[in-house]
Amino acid sequence: MRKIYNFSAGPSMLPEKVLLKAASEMTDYNGTGESVMEMSHRSAEYDAIIKECEALLREVMNIPENYKVLFIQGGASAQFSMVAMNLMKNKKADYIVSGQFSNKAFKEGQLFGECTAIASSKDKNFSYVPVVTKDMISKDADYLHICFNNTIYGTKYPYIPETGDVPLVADMSSCILSEPVDVSKFGIIYAGVQKNMGPAGMAVAIVREDLLEVKNDFVIPTMYKYSTYAENDSMYNTPPTYCIYIVKLVLEWIKNDMGGLAKMKEHNEKKAALLYDYLDNSKLFKAPAEKGSRSLMNVTFVTGNEDLDKKFCKEAAQAGFLNIKGHRSVGGMRASIYNAMPIEGVLKLIEFMAEFEKANG
Ligand SMILES: Cc1ncc(COP(=O)(O)O)c(C=O)c1O
Repeated sequence: MRKIYNFSAGPSMLPEKVLLKAASEMTDYNGTGESVMEMSHRSAEYDAIIKECEALLREVMNIPENYKVLFIQGGASAQFSMVAMNLMKNKKADYIVSGQFSNKAFKEGQLFGECTAIASSKDKNFSYVPVVTKDMISKDADYLHICFNNTIYGTKYPYIPETGDVPLVADMSSCILSEPVDVSKFGIIYAGVQKNMGPAGMAVAIVREDLLEVKNDFVIPTMYKYSTYAENDSMYNTPPTYCIYIVKLVLEWIKNDMGGLAKMKEHNEKKAALLYDYLDNSKLFKAPAEKGSRSLMNVTFVTGNEDLDKKFCKEAAQAGFLNIKGHRSVGGMRASIYNAMPIEGVLKLIEFMAEFEKANG
């Protein structure tokens, strides 16, 4: 049993069972005598691992057949430009700016074409997710880009924007696998894996097949084309082999131990409700995210006094609640309660917050 609870926004806590399984197989995977880290990516053993990882992701997320699952290095940030390079045929795209990462994606898109921020929540320090209706989307946009869960501000889309024929592209880095999602509503879903899927080292992109063909005159480096990954089963070059192996173990845990994404959602809603209920009734702490846009994964809160926030973070760390400090750009606190965080971790955090409130309120 571990003695700390890790509330880091990413890289983040992984299920203990996954870490123990990886440790038990560290020096000898399945009787091969090799660690997965040492294995050729072209070996039969590794081929089975990557195929199983993809098959599990398809099963757990219920991914339709006309979507490719791609394992790509460069993190979610590389997806900001890959999306633009691969999808811009009219060289026009719409973006919803709901936080720092969606703004980074918007800026990156501008390197390749005319990008329009059709809605933004900057007016209220990104404390909510803007509502976008179909009539707001440019008719000739090559895609609409959204960030489904805003890790820094603790907000999440309570709805999937209706985009008609315009492909919807979603950065799901901090909410993928936290609940079921209708993949067929999206053109592309991508996510850096270092929060809910595994260790840092790659992104997963789920790409509708008709979007694989590039219809512009950009010179796109081979490693930046989705088709390179699709045509080579993510093995055009050496993939992040160990990372993929851990993602496979995490998916096994979601399927077999947690009971799939519907159950995962129940588990996550329970944890988030406990923490938000406490915050809504606290006289010391406040949750800045608007109620209709609250994230299940990243719960942000403040005392309104910077010195007290610092004191809280320091004492929390001493008590074993790690990485509770808010993002460096916004301050305050953030408890990231991804899939692997047990209910017990949230209950203990609330207990600690209540004690802090009694002593400092
Ligand atoms: C929503 C979101 N998008 C993008 C990123 C950037 O991911 P990466 O560091 O993998 O490039 C992050 C990182 O925290 C994130 O939370």
